[in-house]
Amino acid sequence: MPDVSPNDQLEAVARSLIELREADRTRLAELKVELLGRKAGKLTQILRAVSTLAPEERRNIGRRANQLKQEIESAIGGRQAELIDCIGSSEARDLTMPARDAWRGAVHPVTAVIDEICDIFREIGFSRVSGPEAETEDYNFTKLNIPLDHPAADMQDTFFLSPGVVLRTHTSPVQARTMEQYAPPIRIVVPGLVYRRDAFDASHAPVFEQIEGLVVDEGISFVDFKAGIDYFVKRFFSKDTAVRFRPSYFPFTEPSAEVDVQCQVCKGSGCATCHQAGYLEIMGSGMVHPAVFENCGIDPERYTGYAFGMGPHRITMLRHGIPDIRLLYDNDMRFLRQFVE
Ligand code: DAH
Repeated sequence: MPDVSPNDQLEAVARSLIELREADRTRLAELKVELLGRKAGKLTQILRAVSTLAPEERRNIGRRANQLKQEIESAIGGRQAELIDCIGSSEARDLTMPARDAWRGAVHPVTAVIDEICDIFREIGFSRVSGPEAETEDYNFTKLNIPLDHPAADMQDTFFLSPGVVLRTHTSPVQARTMEQYAPPIRIVVPGLVYRRDAFDASHAPVFEQIEGLVVDEGISFVDFKAGIDYFVKRFFSKDTAVRFRPSYFPFTEPSAEVDVQCQVCKGSGCATCHQAGYLEIMGSGMVHPAVFENCGIDPERYTGYAFGMGPHRITMLRHGIPDIRLLYDNDMRFLRQFVE
């Protein structure tokens, strides 16, 4: 740089600081050599020439050049640390490569079915409520007209937490809790987990979801009950899905019915999924037993109602043709991803 004054040379070196602070790894290495290289580094040359300058220049240029050398060395160190920080290692990586789209998670197929069912009932005036999973025998059995010597209250089938306290075996106790707390008219759906001493197999699990439903008002008849259930089935499955009410028994309803829907796989002609029946059971239900009303402080002379309880795991299996309930518990991403919309 024979024609350029030492001051201008220093200015040029100082300007390199700006580039240096943003340089990528390759450029940073080049700049280090360009500025501080032992033979041809620009700053090295300036420093080397200081002794040949006139005395008054020598002090100024010498001081500035040394200052600049320190600034450059610290800028190089800083930039190196930044680059290592942002790539997590000292390996060279292409920082301009587009990032992979991150998996943001999705709603589990059973949760999706629960939300869909509750939304359908919301359209016809039901509120979504919940209740405790640790429940007293009183709410889980007695208030629902299930005597403690009934097989349903058996130690064999129920997880006891302490004397008188169980893991609820169904969501029906929330019926009693709601009737005690609110005056009719009542229209609720209650999704939640229930527990039974069952071993895991293709169609059983020791913990599973239920959705309870309860309607209480003056003048609720069996016709309202059938119409409510029919509306739900047609909205959830399809308009042309046939519904069948089969007489049954539950201590908390009278009369009681099990509700069957036309098999979604064979449309009623009979197949392996419905064991050739053409129909599959989706819920227990019935008109609320007057004894339950009495146990919960509601006048059975004035009010009537209907109730139902269904299993969202089972309904999810029906809808998607899933052959084994355990698939819904494994959380195998290869399985679950199939249901992401
Ligand atoms: N609680 C019953 C069970 O877990 C299901 C059920 C049947 C709920 C009839 C009801 C009902 O509300 O009316 O098996």
